[in-house]
Amino acid sequence: MSDSPISAPATPLNPRRRGILVGASGGIGSALSRKLARDGYILALVDRNKAALRSLCDEINQTAGETRAVIYEHDVTDYDSVPDLLRRIIADIGGLDLFVYLAGIIYFPDINEFNFKEDRKVMEVNLLGAMAWMSEVAPLFQSAKSGQIVGISSVAGDRGRVANPANSTSKAGLSTYLESLRNRLTRHGVHVMTVKPGMVKTDMLRGIQKPMFAAEPEQAADMILNGIRKRKQTIYTSGIWRWIMLVIRHIPSFIFRRLSF
Ligand SMILES: NC(=O)c1ccc[n+]([C@@H]2O[C@H](COP(=O)([O-])OP(=O)(O)OC[C@H]3O[C@@H](n4cnc5c(N)ncnc54)[C@H](OP(=O)(O)O)[C@@H]3O)[C@@H](O)[C@H]2O)c1
Repeated sequence: MSDSPISAPATPLNPRRRGILVGASGGIGSALSRKLARDGYILALVDRNKAALRSLCDEINQTAGETRAVIYEHDVTDYDSVPDLLRRIIADIGGLDLFVYLAGIIYFPDINEFNFKEDRKVMEVNLLGAMAWMSEVAPLFQSAKSGQIVGISSVAGDRGRVANPANSTSKAGLSTYLESLRNRLTRHGVHVMTVKPGMVKTDMLRGIQKPMFAAEPEQAADMILNGIRKRKQTIYTSGIWRWIMLVIRHIPSFIFRRLSF
């Protein structure tokens, strides 16, 4: 954990919103962390890459001139550690208003490759890690009758493409899980938002030669922040992907089967 205690605790005259970002040091996570901190949030930045977390945290705190962020090293496949870690973070930052799950991995199999070992890792990080965290956060927000949960899914979950079965499956599962949470929690005053990025220029796109309609991470983060403020249910980043996916979702299966992307 970061060695600096939170220097700006919430008081009745200075209410502070508090957020946890899991997968905070990645491209979209770090852009969103900076924006939330500028918006006045106290943040717990969680990721497995301690050096990247520390540098992001130092940057945020130096810019703010006070401790707005603290860090926690965690591998999201260490599911059993989540309940205790969540309790510790909430005690450290003094409460919780927003939870964002961004952790994700991808690999690019050959069209003829079937690789359970790699597929399993994708499912464990993209889906099971999210469920491990959200199933601890959801009951807390449900009993508090407030709170916001944001899950970063993907346009990949809208259709099962030939290119990447595990990535599509993990994100379809995450989108469906988030929809279920939303249907359970909206009646308790809790907001749940599904984010479906198209292509965003982060390390994740390293294996792609010509990214299509690729957004900057800052642009994706702006749209996520706007969705949090407006309590949107599902957003595409960037907006053009809503229309691209509208078309792709309606391609009949007998044609979609013949496509090679
Ligand atoms: N970029 C895109 O085009 C795109 C498109 C659709 C959806 N998304 C989704 O957007 C989210 C953010 O991705 P990004 O684009 O910002 O990519 P990124 O820069 O690679 O960020 C992913 C983050 O997840 C972390 N992570 C991976 N495995 C982890 C584990 N086992 N435990 C803890 N943290 C772990 C990574 O840490 P390390 O640095 O240590 O690996 C990294 O900080 C992901 O869920 C991704 O699937 C991205």
